[in-house]
Amino acid sequence: AANERQSLFIANQFAQDFFHKQLETEEGMTIGLSYFTEREIRLDTIEKFGLGYAPSGYDTLYKSAVENSYEIKFFEDLGLINHYEDNDRYSDRFRERVMFPVYNLSGNVVAFGGRILKKDEKLAKYINSKESSIYSKSRELYGLFQAKHAISKLDKCYLVEGYLDVLQMTQSGIENVVASSGTALTKDQIRLIRRFTPNITCLFDGDNAGIKAAMRGINLLLEEGINVKVIRLPQEEDPDSLAKKLSASELVEYLNSHEEDFINFKTELLLDESKNDPMLRAKLISDIVGSIALIPEDIIRAVYIQSTAQRLDMSEDLLVNEVRKARNYHN
Ligand code: CTP
Ligand code: MN
Ligand code: MN
Ligand code: MN
Ligand code: MN
Repeated sequence: AANERQSLFIANQFAQDFFHKQLETEEGMTIGLSYFTEREIRLDTIEKFGLGYAPSGYDTLYKSAVENSYEIKFFEDLGLINHYEDNDRYSDRFRERVMFPVYNLSGNVVAFGGRILKKDEKLAKYINSKESSIYSKSRELYGLFQAKHAISKLDKCYLVEGYLDVLQMTQSGIENVVASSGTALTKDQIRLIRRFTPNITCLFDGDNAGIKAAMRGINLLLEEGINVKVIRLPQEEDPDSLAKKLSASELVEYLNSHEEDFINFKTELLLDESKNDPMLRAKLISDIVGSIALIPEDIIRAVYIQSTAQRLDMSEDLLVNEVRKARNYHN
């Protein structure tokens, strides 16, 4: 099994080199490289994150792997090459896409995400490598390999949704950033970040999907003892679009001035929804109580109870009691 994993790493490394080198071919330059240029991704970023281009040909990667005497079975296991048993033909699974390699903490390529170049209702915007013995989507974070030193040094990690968000923030000088790649955050991912810092700031897309993702992620982060902060983005923006609109110093200023505690974020959002409806307000309070109850540290929990009581204009004793009930219920 150790041998198989080694072979999968080697196959992925070959593919990453292949996709990256494609950016120097005529097709790669006119299609792949111009796509990155259009998205304002610089050459040094392409190098730092090992970005590439999967050509439009039916089996370009396959042919190159065969030529270089690689065993195709491993490319099949990784979801890079399809094998059609009935006619024994092979095709590349990623075609005419820009490629984002995903590195594990040791710097090995464990997977790829591939994005289409123009809107096409028939194609998925992104496709990803298959799960394999070296890759489980819920256990990796895009950009962590490149960001880990900055995260340790700054004792803080920005958590965003997508590949381009990581790249564009990094280009603006915010290097302590990783992406959950659009999936619901998991305990394993949180523990990966926790090795470098307990301070996480969620910076999700300004659309409803992004707000929902933030709400879901927060409880899990709290449970893991993370100090959670949230930055809300304007409705139509994601970190990528915001980073392009602002200068590097304006971005820093935006992040610093819009960072709020998870409890403020949750309270404001829910108060907004509940207005003066007492039933909704009761539901809102039990929702916030539920989040506070997840915080493992007694003292930190007490601090949140105090500030929430003030904000919601409730008696602190009542809130203490509610949180206690919620904790008993969970344990
Ligand atoms: N994603 C995915 N498969 C999809 C859609 C999204 O794996 N079909 C993941 C990708 O990692 C993507 C992230 O979810 O980066 C966030 O999705 P989205 O906000 O839709 O994409 P963006 O990152 O904003 O990409 P772009 O700006 O290129 O549209
Ligand atoms: Mn290069
Ligand atoms: Mn989104
Ligand atoms: Mn997005
Ligand atoms: Mn985007």
